[in-house]
Amino acid sequence: MTTQVLLPTAKTLQTAGTLLRAGELVGFPTETVYGLGANALDQAAVLRIFEAKGRPADNPLIVHIASLEDVAPLIKGDLPEAARKLAEAYWPGPMTMVLPKSSRIPLAVSAGLSTVGIRFPDHPVAQALIQAAGVPIAAPSANRSGRPSPTTAAHVLEDMDERIPLILDGGPCRVGVESTVIDLTCDPVRVLRPGGVTPSMIARVLGSVEVDGSVLRPLMPGEVVRSPGMKYRHYAPKGEMTLVSGANVRARLASLYDEAERQGETALILAKDARGFDGRLVRALGETDAEAAASLFALLREADALGVQRIYAEVFDPEGVGLAVMNRMGRAAGFHRVVA
Ligand code: TXA
Ligand code: MG
Repeated sequence: MTTQVLLPTAKTLQTAGTLLRAGELVGFPTETVYGLGANALDQAAVLRIFEAKGRPADNPLIVHIASLEDVAPLIKGDLPEAARKLAEAYWPGPMTMVLPKSSRIPLAVSAGLSTVGIRFPDHPVAQALIQAAGVPIAAPSANRSGRPSPTTAAHVLEDMDERIPLILDGGPCRVGVESTVIDLTCDPVRVLRPGGVTPSMIARVLGSVEVDGSVLRPLMPGEVVRSPGMKYRHYAPKGEMTLVSGANVRARLASLYDEAERQGETALILAKDARGFDGRLVRALGETDAEAAASLFALLREADALGVQRIYAEVFDPEGVGLAVMNRMGRAAGFHRVVA
């Protein structure tokens, strides 16, 4: 199958909607990362997602909607008060709410769980696509399993060429890390995966929130995971990545790089500011959490393309969107860390 990459127009959106209704897959932009969409109510179509990604069958998918009225048929019972408040505050936006699922959700979407993750994305192309399809869209990030999430149409093509018929190119994603996943079936609600909607933003609306303990550390042997996606090695570059922190972080990044080169290995520095590392291979993450979120996955893909064996990355404070950045960087590095 040839994969077409098309700009979103009224015509290409109709084509995409028709493909989705016919059980095919479409790559599309959201404000977080690109998604790999299928008709969420069509079990056979959803199974194609798992095949195209090489995704483990026990990792559930997020269902994307384009209006608040679309939620009711997807969940069991009434929308809980906490969910209504969060939806009012942060939808459309980078927030997924895990709620008890209705019987309309195929088993493949929820990977056998009794809950479903629902998200109303804040992107005109995603919203227009859901409307054109006329059905909710199940969509994981449009990467092959284990690769960094795609933040451009070119990244999607890298991973999905000849696996899907169509990618809609909406340019680079604004947020750059995947949505905040919040479990609404417990009280207080619990952040399973940090993202653009931060714990303090949730606390502001609900008064309290918990953050799952596994967000900033590896899973312990035998630990039961609340979000199946957390048990897989994600965002993994081919090179071995180390997180570097401390007062002399820039000097330490340079010395680790030089040590790797002395050992005959190729290395890359990811620093907040790329200037001043004379002659070393270095890329800028950006000074702010938001800049780092938007640049991180593209830089991990570039590291793979360059074939570097070692990556030394400067850490961010795990506050605000920095929590999402450190969760993704931590997992990419297997939480391997040195303090300068
Ligand atoms: O920003 C995003 O969320 C992107 C865009 C495309 O919307 N999607 C995305 O999907 O990141 P995916 O499949 O790559 O990640 C979904 C995460 C996984 O960690 C999965 O385990 C978790 O959400 N998840 C989905 N449904 C769940 C459920 N019912 N209970 C607990 N965790 C769930
Ligand atoms: Mg993913």
